[in-house]
Amino acid sequence: EASSSDIAKDAAARAAVALVEPGMKLGLGSGSTAAVMVRRLAERNDEEPLGLICAATSAATAELATSLGLAVHELDQIGWLDMTIDGADEIDPDLNLIKGGGGALLREKIVAMASDRMVVIADPTKVVEQLGAFHLPVEVIPFGWEITRKLIGEALVAEGMEHRPILLRKRDDTPYRTDEGNLILDLALEQIEDPARLSRVLNALPGVVETGLFLNICRLAIIGREDGSTIELT
Ligand code: A5P
Repeated sequence: EASSSDIAKDAAARAAVALVEPGMKLGLGSGSTAAVMVRRLAERNDEEPLGLICAATSAATAELATSLGLAVHELDQIGWLDMTIDGADEIDPDLNLIKGGGGALLREKIVAMASDRMVVIADPTKVVEQLGAFHLPVEVIPFGWEITRKLIGEALVAEGMEHRPILLRKRDDTPYRTDEGNLILDLALEQIEDPARLSRVLNALPGVVETGLFLNICRLAIIGREDGSTIELT
């Protein structure tokens, strides 16, 4: 039986798929909500071939979309995209996001920035007043990562955020590796008072590749509800 969160994710996914127009160049997000969207998109494409050209934000999404008959190409083969549909871990009232719970933040951000429009789909648990309760994922290169972790810690202290755990993400007891072979540090910040400033501070550190802060990128969030309806945040 479908859980209420499954119904909410599916409602958001369907509403986003309804925005897709034939012939679009489309970015496909990552995570469980985006996976539902890819399935719904493939169903629509089966009924009515849409001639879409898709770019994927992760190897997992590329594999899923390809297996369902969607045409997935390298981003650089496609160039600019009309729209990207992706999930999020947190969405604030300004539509600023935390992403990267699934580890795909770097490709997700590159694909979102290559798109005329980023549409986020989520269930109501992702909507927050202030970002930060969800641990902020930061992608770092493996070389000198412990130094990078120390530098992040010092930067946080300088920003008035002391004693915030910085956790190396693991999977099956070994360090998690992104599609790019990098590591993820999850920052337990509790509250992010100034996301733009924090983004600048973290991105200024040499070992940091990207953070999961997506600021001023998303223009529409479709929130699915447990009764199958949706609300749009703009
Ligand atoms: C993947 O790296 C993330 O940015 C996802 O978009 C995010 O974790 C949302 O995933 P769910 O849809 O599974 O909650």
